[in-house]
Amino acid sequence: MLVCYWYFIQDLPDTRQTRFSFVKETRMSLKRCTLSVAAILGLALMATPAVAQDSVTYYKDVLPIIQDNCQACHRDAGYNISGLVAPMAFMDYQETRPWARAIKSKVESREMPPWFATEPTGIWENERRLTGDQIATISAWVDAGAPAGDSADAPPPKVFAEATHDGWSHGTPDFVVTMHEPYVVPEGAYDITTTLVTQIPADVVSEETWVRGWELKVGAEGEGVHHMCAFVRGDGESVEGSSKSAIGLGGLLACVAEGAESGMLPEGYGMKIEPGSVLAFNMHFNKEPGEGSSFTSQPQVGFFLANKDEVEHEVITDTLGNNGFEIPPNVDNYRIGMARTMKKDTLMLNLWPHAHLRAVGSRYIAYYPDGTEELLLDVPAYDQAWQLTYKYKEPKLLPKGTRLEVDFWYDNTGDRGTRRAFNADRPIGFGPRTNDEMALGFVSYVELDDAPATTDEN
Ligand code: HEC
Repeated sequence: MLVCYWYFIQDLPDTRQTRFSFVKETRMSLKRCTLSVAAILGLALMATPAVAQDSVTYYKDVLPIIQDNCQACHRDAGYNISGLVAPMAFMDYQETRPWARAIKSKVESREMPPWFATEPTGIWENERRLTGDQIATISAWVDAGAPAGDSADAPPPKVFAEATHDGWSHGTPDFVVTMHEPYVVPEGAYDITTTLVTQIPADVVSEETWVRGWELKVGAEGEGVHHMCAFVRGDGESVEGSSKSAIGLGGLLACVAEGAESGMLPEGYGMKIEPGSVLAFNMHFNKEPGEGSSFTSQPQVGFFLANKDEVEHEVITDTLGNNGFEIPPNVDNYRIGMARTMKKDTLMLNLWPHAHLRAVGSRYIAYYPDGTEELLLDVPAYDQAWQLTYKYKEPKLLPKGTRLEVDFWYDNTGDRGTRRAFNADRPIGFGPRTNDEMALGFVSYVELDDAPATTDEN
């Protein structure tokens, strides 16, 4: 039996064509071997569990899945931006083993890893979904008593850039812009939304500069920063003017909200920063008021330069927004929509539906000029706690004349109010606080130049 087992595991992983017949033969001889040994040893031995299932171990099978799909959030990152990093680390067997049952249940229900778009799948660069096989492997491992196995089977440990790059997750930025002074969130404060603005120093950006990535840091200890967005404003925008306006005016870089990540643009894409621009940080602080609860925040953006000569497309981020709505009290399934028609052929890079506590679903739909339509994004169980940006692997072309529609659905009933701590007995409109609502369909895109005129047939 042991001999058969040895042959079996030796050859199982090897499916290369050249050795295919050998493997097939070995498997057949394995079958014969097992059968004869089993026949000799009788029924007692036949009752031992199947070899393949028995061999699922942490080091060999489960750790690789956890490294690729869980450790980005399940580790001691030494920082936390509004809940992206989980309270429990899964870096090694000791840390992971106590969570085995919870892990099985969370992956089977697809609550972990967090990912909310049911459709479409396979087209997002940052898609976090386990395959059916991966889920089955984790379940089999937990059912087998979550064995460690042989640590020699373990893949090399995953190394995160933050550890060696002063907390920056994409490596050391080419330049960093820091708010010129710390903002004090006082003890008495519970919920503050404010825009902090700083001039980008002339020695940092002295000429037209193209960037292809940026990462935001809240510059605060603890959990009191609910979200932060950063905007670059050029064209003579003053520091004073900028602090009055926040979301919706263009120039958005990125937001760090609950569950949102920073990112890099694809090769050939960039965003332009003019000298003399200002950087605006739209901050949302939220904490329990009280003695000792005061803290400071001095936000930063780290920028990664694009090679100016290689930038073909200027990326714009803005929103399809609706801020004139009022959701009546005690209604379910209340829809708010907004739309825009593309003036040019447009390449979409990413989509980010943003709403608050009452939002339960969101959709982006493209209505093409030829009369067909396509569901670009379906988030049927929207969760405000996970502000995910859906990033296309391949930019998505929306031809000139396409009507892009973004819809949100809201549940302003007592049931949800009890669970999410809001008062459903009053109408609710647009506003910046967690307890207000929003309906913002963020989009990042590039507009393509009009195609050269083709010969007109008349
Ligand atoms: C994007 C970040 C992120 C990723 C990726 C992620 N998690 Fe989590 N996970 C969290 C956060 C944050 C929490 C704590 C808050 C919560 O439960 O929602 C959590 C909680 C959990 C819990 C605890 C639930 C409980 O019972 O309290 C388990 C188990 C878990 N995750 C398993 C996994 C597994 C397994 C993977 C990978 C297959 C994974 N997570 C990937 C962020 C993440």
